[in-house]
Amino acid sequence: MSALSASVLSADFARLGDDCRKVLNAGADMIHFDVMDGHFVDNLSFGIPVLAGLRKALPEAYFDVHLMITDPLIYIKEFVDAGASCISIHVESLNSIRSTIASIKAFGCDAGLVLNPHTPAEAAFPFLEDLKIVLSMGVTPGHGGQPFIPSTLDKIRALRAECDRLGLNPYLSVDGGIKAETTAPECIKAGATLLVAGSAIFDAPDIDKAVAQFKAL
Ligand code: DX5
Ligand code: ZN
Repeated sequence: MSALSASVLSADFARLGDDCRKVLNAGADMIHFDVMDGHFVDNLSFGIPVLAGLRKALPEAYFDVHLMITDPLIYIKEFVDAGASCISIHVESLNSIRSTIASIKAFGCDAGLVLNPHTPAEAAFPFLEDLKIVLSMGVTPGHGGQPFIPSTLDKIRALRAECDRLGLNPYLSVDGGIKAETTAPECIKAGATLLVAGSAIFDAPDIDKAVAQFKAL
């Protein structure tokens, strides 16, 4: 069974805490928290104070923080203090990836690495042993509700093969365009173990049912 991280980018921001509680109670394993700086991606979302508020409301939750920002290194401590459980940075960001992962881990937080659609799997290979999550973007980051890019499946397969070869077992995650009926089963077949879904959960007529559908995969 794969794990599920519910992306609150598609939640109702007027009742964000309640929406998080609802998906966790329905069976989601973690909350995916998308941070955008309007520079690394062409959009803005939410940041440190919002995470701190959610952490206060949900002390037991696992917050999977996805930093779509150009300079993640300078913000690591603040995100850890705000309650991040895992911080994932983009391999395309401008800071030293090795130093940023080391900083995340030095603060006692899990580290993740994210690959944009056109970045090859090999870009993650030097860092695999330090990672809790290796995340392949299924869409160009910045917006929810976009269609899945099929070549992402080859990347997941390549990451699975390399992790198996090294005897490592980080979560192989996929984010963007994930739907329970179509792309999710294909990603699992390719080797994904952690699905990130936003619109497929929060735009569904019945959120409990949408989560249950993913968890049945
Ligand atoms: C996109 C974000 C995703 C987004 C996915 O930049 O990183 O987490 O919420 O949305 P869906 O599941 O709607 O494609
Ligand atoms: Zn994301």
